[in-house]
Amino acid sequence: MENHKKTSSKNNKGYYVKMKLMHKHGRPQQEKNNSFHKYFKWILWLSLSLYFFTSYLISNNNNNHHDHQPTHIIKSLSQSFSTNKTTSPPQQSHNTNIKNLKVFIYELPPKYNTNWLSNERCKTHLFASEVAIHRALLTSDVRTFDPYDADFFFVPVYVSCNFSTVNGFPAIGHARSLISSAVHLISSDYPFWNRSRGSDHVFVASHDFGSCFHTLEDVAMKDGVPEIMKKSIVLQTFGVTYDHPCQKVEHVVIPPFVSPGSIRNTMKSFPVNGRRDIWVFFRGKMEVHPKNVSGRFYSKKVRTVIWKKFNGDRRFFLQRRRFAGYQSEIARSVFCLCPLGWAPWSPRLVESVALGCVPVIIADGIRLPFPSAVKWSEISVMVAERDVWRLGEILENVAASNLSSIQRNLWDPRTRKALLFNGRVQEGDATWQVLHSLSKKVDRSYRSSRVSRQLDFDT
Ligand SMILES: *[C@@H]1O[C@H](CO)[C@@H](O)[C@H](O)[C@H]1NC(C)=O
Ligand SMILES: *[C@@H]1O[C@H](CO)[C@@H](O)[C@H](O)[C@H]1NC(C)=O
Ligand SMILES: *[C@@H]1O[C@H](CO)[C@@H](O)[C@H](O)[C@H]1NC(C)=O
Ligand SMILES: *[C@@H]1O[C@H](CO)[C@@H](O)[C@H](O)[C@H]1NC(C)=O
Ligand SMILES: *[C@@H]1O[C@H](CO)[C@@H](O)[C@H](O)[C@H]1NC(C)=O
Repeated sequence: MENHKKTSSKNNKGYYVKMKLMHKHGRPQQEKNNSFHKYFKWILWLSLSLYFFTSYLISNNNNNHHDHQPTHIIKSLSQSFSTNKTTSPPQQSHNTNIKNLKVFIYELPPKYNTNWLSNERCKTHLFASEVAIHRALLTSDVRTFDPYDADFFFVPVYVSCNFSTVNGFPAIGHARSLISSAVHLISSDYPFWNRSRGSDHVFVASHDFGSCFHTLEDVAMKDGVPEIMKKSIVLQTFGVTYDHPCQKVEHVVIPPFVSPGSIRNTMKSFPVNGRRDIWVFFRGKMEVHPKNVSGRFYSKKVRTVIWKKFNGDRRFFLQRRRFAGYQSEIARSVFCLCPLGWAPWSPRLVESVALGCVPVIIADGIRLPFPSAVKWSEISVMVAERDVWRLGEILENVAASNLSSIQRNLWDPRTRKALLFNGRVQEGDATWQVLHSLSKKVDRSYRSSRVSRQLDFDT
């Protein structure tokens, strides 16, 4: 980056010297015009490269800047460049809804987000969609540096990376205070929160019970969604079809984070349509007892029933212990069990889909991510919690009737891509699906409502 700056200023000086020399020697008019033309072209080139360079700087600097001053300068620079829409870089968007969408990303002090990345796990563990979405948005076409031009405001707070030194689980006890402190900051520094009371602001809540920020369901339900974000939009992994206090907020159900790199690596050795020598696969804790919540009578027994009934059945490959190479087992399996655990959702769902193993979803009332992109009923087998003891029979029936059509749907690359968050937004990937979902909520956009009011006035 330093080099770039140096060469630019050197060129600049060189040009000045040239101009002076030419002036002195009194070139003919024709040539003067010519050089003016060249000068203009050069300025245009400089502006464009500055634009690209600064936007590159901003997106790359964001992880590690301690000094705010330069960023502000860069911001105002790129703002002034982007005021002329026709000279801004071509938007390579694919969907008209998304193309028109504009998202402003708050630049919060690093204690709210990037400081947590000092722990490597922060950007790879199953709650890491809070990091992944932020990163992908920073370089995406929908990003605007002009908050007055934004439909939505993304508040990047990482709350899942305070890993317990005892058991390695994320301690999310600080989540509520961290978020409210961030909201306090943005609502005093900028007018946008107060203007809409946060309704066009977007948060990520990627843990078990989403925006309730507690790992135990009964406590989570009692605490509910923090008052401060009740009017906002939450991207959360938790979603159920029945009434639940942890989804009493405008929200989008998102998949848990699974590293796309790990999926690619596994697929190198195990292509999606390769041999699958395991019929039914499950690896994980067999005695999970989710909280006893009325109306969910069978839930706490599901895994125990699976273990008791099918351990020793030759068709089932059931393992209790953790194993680093479990992705290759998924890639070798026809059916992958995705029973509920603490919460209805599980990373198994994403890994099964991405690796082409038919997910067998055993979680009554679960609401699955991105239903408009992933036709869940066509790529999975849903088994009611109370029917889990009949699993063998149910899967035999599927294998005898429509397994190949389920696999064909599942192996569609578009389906397998939709649940993965890439470093940069790719058409159809998980961040793209998030943006697609946001574009359906554009009625919350202050900017859009202003535009439509304007239109009303005009007509
Ligand atoms: C934007 O740039 C175009 C082409 O470079 C130019 O024709 C137009 O007048 C500019 N508009 C404004 C508002 O500066
Ligand atoms: C991290 O979690 C622990 C509890 O496990 C808590 O004592 C500590 O204050 C948390 N750290 C931050 C920075 O919130
Ligand atoms: C937004 O409202 C809060 C609470 O009423 C107030 O303290 C804050 O100063 C307001 N922010 C702005 C930018 O006016
Ligand atoms: C589970 O909840 C139901 C209804 O809320 C209650 O009747 C039952 O006693 C509870 N069971 C246990 C083991 O707590
Ligand atoms: C497969 O068959 C089952 C039972 O006959 C049915 O419920 C399910 O919708 C079918 N799935 C597909 C993708 O055809």
